[in-house]
Amino acid sequence: MAQGDTELEARLEEQDEFEPSEEFVAQANVSDSDIYDEFEENWPVCWERAADLLDWDEEYDEVLDDSNPPFYEWFTGGELNACYNCVDRHVENGDKNRVAIKWEGEHGETRTYTYQDLYREVNEFAAALRDLGVEEDDVVTLYMPMVPELPIAMLACARIGAPHNVVFAGFSAEALATRMNAADSRFLVTCDGYYRRGDPLDHLDKTNEGLDSVDHGVDATVVVDRLGDDGFGHDLKGNQHDWDDLLDEQGGERVEPVERDAEDMLFLMYTSGTTGQPKGVKHTTGGYLSYATWTSHAVLDIEQEDTYWCSADIGWITGHSYIVYGPLALGSTTVMYEGTPDFPNRDRMWDIVEKYAVDIFYTAPTAIRAFMKWGSKYPASRDLSSLRLLGTVGEPINPRAWKWYYEHIGNEDCPVVDTWWQTETGGMMITTLPGVKNMKPGSAGPPLPGIDAQIVDTNGDEVKPGRAGYLTVNKPWPGMLRTLYNNDERYISEYWEEYSDTDSDDPDDWVYFPEDGAKVDEDDYITVLGRVDDVINVSGHRLGTMEIESAIVGVEGVAEAAVVGGNHEVKGEAVYAYVITEDGYEEGDDLRARIIEGVEDAIGPIARPEQVVFTPELPKTRSGKIMRRLLEDVANGAELGNTSTLRNPEIVGEIEAKVRAQS
Ligand code: WTA
Repeated sequence: MAQGDTELEARLEEQDEFEPSEEFVAQANVSDSDIYDEFEENWPVCWERAADLLDWDEEYDEVLDDSNPPFYEWFTGGELNACYNCVDRHVENGDKNRVAIKWEGEHGETRTYTYQDLYREVNEFAAALRDLGVEEDDVVTLYMPMVPELPIAMLACARIGAPHNVVFAGFSAEALATRMNAADSRFLVTCDGYYRRGDPLDHLDKTNEGLDSVDHGVDATVVVDRLGDDGFGHDLKGNQHDWDDLLDEQGGERVEPVERDAEDMLFLMYTSGTTGQPKGVKHTTGGYLSYATWTSHAVLDIEQEDTYWCSADIGWITGHSYIVYGPLALGSTTVMYEGTPDFPNRDRMWDIVEKYAVDIFYTAPTAIRAFMKWGSKYPASRDLSSLRLLGTVGEPINPRAWKWYYEHIGNEDCPVVDTWWQTETGGMMITTLPGVKNMKPGSAGPPLPGIDAQIVDTNGDEVKPGRAGYLTVNKPWPGMLRTLYNNDERYISEYWEEYSDTDSDDPDDWVYFPEDGAKVDEDDYITVLGRVDDVINVSGHRLGTMEIESAIVGVEGVAEAAVVGGNHEVKGEAVYAYVITEDGYEEGDDLRARIIEGVEDAIGPIARPEQVVFTPELPKTRSGKIMRRLLEDVANGAELGNTSTLRNPEIVGEIEAKVRAQS
């Protein structure tokens, strides 16, 4: 490293607060610090600002109806169509030739969709869905990788008022079936396959396996031909249709966007929780779309002229809000990349930034840690001067990774927004407004205007700055989930019960609990410390330890299992599984391989255990509860916590010795 670089690194290391450049502030969408007071003084009417970014068919009567907490309703009486807002209005406003989607396949092929192209394909696919029998309010499942047909299918669903239910393509057949069953979904759009590190993957085979386990049967499946000649030669079955054939049949067909009530469901998204069954998070048309669009405008600073790239997968909420709905509602160009960041080389991401002159880049700390590990020579070899703003999401980012990102990707010129939010919140909640606030690496920032978040102790009393506590949100916001699909009770028990007076009709007595730990500093900047429930965060992906445990216990020869998250240099957390075998079964590589396979079959490769440790017992309290905290200490090589309440304290040392022997 050159002398100058070393000095720079040393300087950055000491600095704990960074100001946005004057140049950035001068052009920012939001640059007036009064916005915080304006929201506070005029709450909830202030949220009209978000709704005003959309075109409504029918004006809403009321901004917020909080008469029945926690079943809040936003923009009641209003009507709109999400697809119209993301596509038609830009075509009508003279921007039809502006690029909507820039897609790049792993092998380097590209596809460009102008808003006019998007309009045509979305209409044709909406017509095709109708012909297949999809009616308003039918849930359509989309089990697709990063191909342009995925956002097209989402928008087509929105156009005809059919909520979509996107299932991450990396999830297993079983996970697909669970989600289709839970959502009562009779329609599916999928893909023959896709590329990963150069090789074609057979996705249709996995789809068909999943379809066999859909209890209620499926009316129709549409299959996108992604692989062409590289395909696996599957014949389509009776109710399976080829995407291109369907579009050809429609040839220029148009479908009127249906007027949806603001509170009508736009989509469902299943996410992991404490218990084994994934939670079907319900998002609505008016509130969600306003919120995704508002935060894209205010935090990501997206303008219509921008080329914007979020490197998440659309199979997760980040891709829904910040690849598809937010950027398209604002009429900007959104970049989609199919493949992995190191294929064919470790400069692939920077190659894409350079090639498309990306203005804004949004990624996850796990990716940044991998980039750091690979080294700064890869970004240094590319021209990244088009970048204006950087963002991260998914897990806490440590100051070192933040500073690396700021320096080596942003050239110390781009604000970095560290955005805390969740599947349930629909959009960003805690982060700096880049044109208003200074940044403090490691801390996400203050709650956004209009968001009322506090750090409390177990009694719900606010804790002092610097002390760890629990993050809570005291007021509703437009992008919030409305309920868990078909399960209002679980909605209350998962998110509200902990800190609310559940007998009260007064919204002030209702407090949302995201199940994260956090602390706050004197300036109201919040540092999120991580989950406090049994959810672990592997490469920014939320996985329920119970789901993984139940997959492991389903493997022949396993009597009991406990899963915890352990620190991992790149992934953030990794899955550690502690397993007791059944009598008569041998601990060893064969069983270990079957356990890993069992987890991959039940959930997908992302949940693959980093380590499987066989043990004759699990550390349990006298009342029989597994002491997960101790297992986490073991996984992390940390000093062991208190073992005195254990029934079998000696077992912890044994497990520790085994973990050390294996790693
Ligand atoms: C974690 C992803 C710290 C957090 C949008 C949250 C974060 C969970 C951050 C939601 C951040 C997300 N700093 N932690 N900037 N962003 N998290 O539903 O634990 O996949 O509860 O939504 O990720 O994950 P989800």
